[in-house]
Amino acid sequence: MVLSTGYNKVKTAVFISGTGSNLKSLIKFSKNRISPISIDYIISNNSKAKGLNFAKKYKIKKKVLNFKNKQLSENKLLSIFKKNNVKMICLAGFMKILSKNFIKKFEGKILNIHPSLLPKYKGLYTYQRALNNKEKYSGCTVHFVNSKLDSGKIILQKKVKVAKNDTVNSLAKKILIQEHKLYPKAILKIFNL
Ligand code: GAR
Repeated sequence: MVLSTGYNKVKTAVFISGTGSNLKSLIKFSKNRISPISIDYIISNNSKAKGLNFAKKYKIKKKVLNFKNKQLSENKLLSIFKKNNVKMICLAGFMKILSKNFIKKFEGKILNIHPSLLPKYKGLYTYQRALNNKEKYSGCTVHFVNSKLDSGKIILQKKVKVAKNDTVNSLAKKILIQEHKLYPKAILKIFNL
């Protein structure tokens, strides 16, 4: 693949529900010459997601869909992606579960970042559960998305040491810093770069 001109980058949509700090790190990465992806769409189920502001700032198209009728929302996305040649999806703090049918259509092309060392602590409240279990380490994982929640093939993980006095907030902060580095690295890895 020729990457130097930027024209052949794989068009990617990032799905968010909240702050979008991982989205920001992916946008920055995508602008680097070495990035195999460009960020062409920001998708959110939440019209109030702070991360949607990055659409204006970086002139990226955005689409808000409420996912109340999941099939309808997903079909709209499939049609937008087809029309615009979007080939990859990065979930970045997206708190809705995509349907099996949607995942199948993008098989092997949907990535997710999760704030735990999977397979430990799938789902929600990962920090609290790690603290309750007095884990010495927690961390983050980038994985492919399959039809089982947080269970697809792991691409990369980063361990983070849990301090004795860590709280949910302090642990989340430490892990998030690592997430911002891990997601771009995982993308380079799947493109063999
Ligand atoms: C991140 O910590 C991400 O790993 C987590 O939500 C946060 C989003 O932060 N994702 C999940 O819990 C998915 N199950 P951000 O909006 O600042 O990127």
